[in-house]
Amino acid sequence: MARNQHDHFYRLARKEGYRSRAAYKLKQINSKFHVIKRGNNIVDLGAAPGGWLQMARELAGTDGTVVGVDIQPIREIEGVITIVGDITAEDTVGRIKELVKNADVVLCDASPNLSGDWSYDHARSIDLTEQALSCAEQILKPGGHFVVKAFHGDLFADYLQKVRSLFKNVRAHSPEASRKASAETYIIAKRFRGTKSFR
Ligand SMILES: C[S@@+](CC[C@H](N)C(=O)[O-])C[C@H]1O[C@@H](n2cnc3c(N)ncnc32)[C@H](O)[C@@H]1O
Repeated sequence: MARNQHDHFYRLARKEGYRSRAAYKLKQINSKFHVIKRGNNIVDLGAAPGGWLQMARELAGTDGTVVGVDIQPIREIEGVITIVGDITAEDTVGRIKELVKNADVVLCDASPNLSGDWSYDHARSIDLTEQALSCAEQILKPGGHFVVKAFHGDLFADYLQKVRSLFKNVRAHSPEASRKASAETYIIAKRFRGTKSFR
């Protein structure tokens, strides 16, 4: 079942010209939660090969800025700016801010390379999501939205709590295009309360 679903979205992505089947996860998330609107400024963290960037560009239209960041280079996508950078490195947020000062939406589908050691992989994935949250805090405008992939495990509840303290409306969701067997969940956090100086 999970494999069939995986193959279905994989084939659909090839047919429709998306670089990853993940593009459909963002599409489904957006249909349900209305995160991206036309004209939005969007930053996508951990964006290679670029399926979410293609979809974000489509959903936002040609106004607004779409920026993708990854440690791997991202092949050119029309209307999208890309940065080769590590989201855990200090200078990366500064480089993003040079392009987008007040983002409407921050997305993060980043995953670490898996070692096979479950608790080590879980800790590393939560570390990435913490970095993404810190980045979102620095670049989102008050009222902005944040979507982040997180893996279930013992650190998940604390992370969710942290997100809840920063956003007014927070939901955890597994889109249909995620493999059924996967431990991944997307946290959809809406209406950023603003940096401390705004609160
Ligand atoms: C599942 S892929 C993202 C797929 C993407 N959403 C798409 O639709 O094409 C996860 C990405 O996270 C990136 N990544 C992992 N750690 C990172 C880090 N510290 N900084 C930036 N990118 C990172 C990986 O290089 C990989 O390209």
